[in-house]
Amino acid sequence: MSPKASLDAAHSAIRAFWEEEGARYDQKDAHGIFSEAERQLWTGSLGAIPPASRVLDIATGTGFVALLLAELGHQVTGYDASQAMLAHARAKAAERAMAITFVEGVTERLPFPDASFDAVTARHFIWTLVEPDKAFAEWRRVLTPGGTLVADCSLNTQVAAHHYSDDVAAALPFSGVGDPAPIVDALRAAGFADVDVHIVDDDGQRRRAVLCARAG
Ligand SMILES: C[S@@+](CC[C@H](N)C(=O)[O-])C[C@H]1O[C@@H](n2cnc3c(N)ncnc32)[C@H](O)[C@@H]1O
Repeated sequence: MSPKASLDAAHSAIRAFWEEEGARYDQKDAHGIFSEAERQLWTGSLGAIPPASRVLDIATGTGFVALLLAELGHQVTGYDASQAMLAHARAKAAERAMAITFVEGVTERLPFPDASFDAVTARHFIWTLVEPDKAFAEWRRVLTPGGTLVADCSLNTQVAAHHYSDDVAAALPFSGVGDPAPIVDALRAAGFADVDVHIVDDDGQRRRAVLCARAG
């Protein structure tokens, strides 16, 4: 298979996985959707975003971070490739009467103008990026200069094996990293500065890096 064909195959397999996962995502403990500790961790990390910001929550999934951002008073757009995941996010926002805009699409091509957000967030996502350089460049493009990025990345080297086939897992540059250094380098190469890394080691199983950076 050509490199382009194997990238396309990985993208398709990942999309199909999350369409199916939409039905059960919130029931899985590992996602920490209902954990108070997880809520506190993210409320603290999102404190780096100035009040009343325009925030793009990339790979919003079922909306954990998008809802938290709206509660904190931000103007939120949740973005995701999966209709099934977005359906849950939309239902949760409607239940809580929260005015969040949800948009379907892939992070490698964002349908937003340059410098249209003050902050970008991405929880539980960097590990599953097929083309992180493209994604990070897009995140930088839609941010205002000086805008804030808050994201995390699993440092569990088995995370992809828990979700995808071996072929797909092998196509993910940041799925097997036990150390955040290559992610930090890629963010800097995409134009992010002041990259701050905080290691969270909940119970050894969910070790991850929480990254906060500024669009340079
Ligand atoms: C592990 S879930 C994280 C969801 C959410 N951020 C959270 O914290 O619960 C990963 C999400 O990434 C989305 N996704 C995967 N590849 C994507 C891509 N290339 N562009 C946009 N979303 C993508 C999936 O549809 C899924 O909702």
